[in-house]
Amino acid sequence: MNKNDILQTKMATAVKGGGEARIKAQHNKGKLTARERIALLMDENSFEEIGMFVTHRSTDFGMEKEQYLGDGVVTGYGTVNGRLVYVFSQDFTVFGGSLSETHAEKICKIMDLALQNGAPVIGLNDSGGARIQEGVVSLGGYADIFYRNTRASGVIPQISAIMGPCAGGAVYSPAITDFILMVEQSSYMFVTGPNVVKTVTHEEITSEELGGADTHASKSGVTHFACVNEVACINQIKELLSYMPQNCEEDAPIYEYQAANEKREKLNVLIPENPNQPYDMKEVITQVCDHDSFMEVHKNYAESIIVGFARLGGRSIGIVANQPAVMAGVLDNNSSKKGARFVRFCDAFNIPLLVLVDVPGFLPGTDQEWNGIITNGAKLLYAFSEATVPKVTVITRKAYGGAYDVMNSKHIGADMNFAFPNAEIAVMGAKGAVEIIFKKEIEQADDAEAKLNEKVKEYADKFANPYGAAARGFIDEIIQPEDTRIKLMKVFKMLENKVCNLPKKKHGNIPL
Ligand code: HXC
Repeated sequence: MNKNDILQTKMATAVKGGGEARIKAQHNKGKLTARERIALLMDENSFEEIGMFVTHRSTDFGMEKEQYLGDGVVTGYGTVNGRLVYVFSQDFTVFGGSLSETHAEKICKIMDLALQNGAPVIGLNDSGGARIQEGVVSLGGYADIFYRNTRASGVIPQISAIMGPCAGGAVYSPAITDFILMVEQSSYMFVTGPNVVKTVTHEEITSEELGGADTHASKSGVTHFACVNEVACINQIKELLSYMPQNCEEDAPIYEYQAANEKREKLNVLIPENPNQPYDMKEVITQVCDHDSFMEVHKNYAESIIVGFARLGGRSIGIVANQPAVMAGVLDNNSSKKGARFVRFCDAFNIPLLVLVDVPGFLPGTDQEWNGIITNGAKLLYAFSEATVPKVTVITRKAYGGAYDVMNSKHIGADMNFAFPNAEIAVMGAKGAVEIIFKKEIEQADDAEAKLNEKVKEYADKFANPYGAAARGFIDEIIQPEDTRIKLMKVFKMLENKVCNLPKKKHGNIPL
């Protein structure tokens, strides 16, 4: 064989990973191979592989006889929709995609390049965890990755797709990254699997129930997206990337949009007169943003708050909105954490924030208090206060109590605060308020109910409107709902060169 033939043969061997039989087994499970996933993700012919001939160094348990070129992970760079990304894709056909010392080194090399060159890292995870034959060097390899995930956090976007098993400490790399996507029925994440759970807590549970995509999308919030299959998962990664800049020094790409009549009359009738009647805030979002541009994040988790990306006049924005259709849009432990993490991502990557407010307050009760609503609510408060990107608020109806302050009020640094004419900005709802401050007067009245109604009306006339807040400049403008899109496009344009520096510090201490 001449030298060229040797190269060609080695490359052909490397591409087969763990061999035809294991590739077939992977397909039989309804899963794609590491290389097939990369081919779906990257622009055609754009992928350049790095480290194709890396092999492990283990000599224990006869491992020296079992060598596979690439050592269970395909790494490299290429483009997605014309933009540079770095990728690693674990190959389950080689030792179950398990992480050896050299496998980890390949991932670290990609991460270092990504950080130095300011482009996102996409991890396609499909791995049985630490390479059991290697012991502590494998654990060290994981920690090398965790360290780099943390160093890169806030500098370049990091996205993790879970497309197979992801157990043990291996879950912590995805957890540090910005977004996790899981494939339904074929991926799972847990720190300890069902067998350990059974031994320790005597619970009997399947992998799917313990750590499948639906569980993490709805119960734990660990994953931001649950995708019906691998193709959908990869398409969602591409869509997600379209809203982000390459790194923290850049802005997100600007897309064409269809400029039409920007008035949205539907907004005039979308919000019910009755403050206790629910409506779907997603319809407001649809009316305000560019056609079909809203990508919801954490769709099935803590649904009383909505977060997601959208475009306004072709530019990326991050939306945080109370959802009156779920628990009246109340803020609780999970919705506060969900909102805070999203705000911090947007702020780290120069994505302006639009906040739509219809919030009755924080959820009362022992469950909330004992699970730390004080600390968790403070996370959202802190995240908004700390954010220096353009921040714009629209109060569509209620803004009560502490939640008024928290939801990007003027006081915590919002640049522009709008309210609809029917907005109610008060310490609490009128009935609750008068039952406290006029308790004695109502009790002593001949007709207690008439007195209550009279006082409720008096309080509502005084506070259940946006004019008190506007008089103090806490609300900059009261707008007709149909003009929201026009106003927002103008105001985000006006704010596009905003410069706002935080006081010099090493880093803040968000109440984690
Ligand atoms: C080495 C492994 C492996 C591992 C799987 N394989 N996991 N090799 N180290 N961790 C190999 C198998 O020997 C097998 O090799 C091939 O991968 C496919 O595995 P199967 O068991 O046949 O596949 P499947 O039935 O689909 O089950 C997949 C699995 C199971 C659920 C992932 O293999 C499994 O439970 N593996 C061990 C998981 C685990 O306990 N990992 C350590 C977690 S602790 P052949 O040659 O037959 O193809 C950890 C610590 C990290 O990760 C800490 C970081 C801080």
